[in-house]
Amino acid sequence: MNTQIYRSASRAARSFLYSASKINKHVVSEGRTAAAAAAISFKGTLPPLASFANSSNTSNKWIAGALAVPAAAYMLQDQEAHAAQMERTFIAIKPDGVQRGLISDIIQRFERKGFKLVAIKLIVPTKAFAGKHYQDLKDRPFYNGLCNFLSSGPVIAMVWEGEGVITYGRKLIGATDPQKSEPGTIRGDLAIVVGRNIIHGSDGPETAKNEINLWFKPEELTNYTSNQEKWTYGVN
Ligand code: RTP
Ligand code: MG
Repeated sequence: MNTQIYRSASRAARSFLYSASKINKHVVSEGRTAAAAAAISFKGTLPPLASFANSSNTSNKWIAGALAVPAAAYMLQDQEAHAAQMERTFIAIKPDGVQRGLISDIIQRFERKGFKLVAIKLIVPTKAFAGKHYQDLKDRPFYNGLCNFLSSGPVIAMVWEGEGVITYGRKLIGATDPQKSEPGTIRGDLAIVVGRNIIHGSDGPETAKNEINLWFKPEELTNYTSNQEKWTYGVN
């Protein structure tokens, strides 16, 4: 949560600097301090922008100071409300999906939905690693074969971020058995049998956290603002 707040504050500060630089380049360094302070200390509701804008003082410097700080804080307010609902999930394209040339098709479905890719790599897991990943299934008769299969070739390991991405990611993937997956889902459209169902997705928040930690080092997870975020999320 602290990271989220920090990111929100950074975004708000960047927004301020951009606004200020458009009005008067000279106020930027001075504004940096003000925006950072506003971003960090803002907690309550702000007065409407109009009450700042209606003043007769029209110096560029004043306008930048008066307008940009509330704008930054408004942005922080939006981002914080939104950030609280963000989550991350672990998604893997299994060796069958990679070998069948389905990487781009699968990634595209998550991208087009609006989810954000924050980590990706191509790796061949060892059998021991596959065993860790599927440890909750260790008593099932197919466990050994499943671990052999997951470690049989390259896997695309990914972390996707977005509101509801854990649950909705599973919807995009479809039922475990492709015979029961709905058309339109990844397994429904692209797979036929349960033993070659091409993709894995975390099944809950705890699993997502554990799987992300298993497959990725913290420094492999990126934090960035997607340009499309303001068009993907919003409350009217
Ligand atoms: P996943 O973990 O791979 O996302 O799949 P899932 O949650 O939909 O299903 P899960 O019960 O966790 O099973 C993990 C994987 O094991 C293989 N499996 N084989 N009867 C079988 O032969 C059988 N049942 C499951 C599938 O590859 C399944 O995705
Ligand atoms: Mg599972």
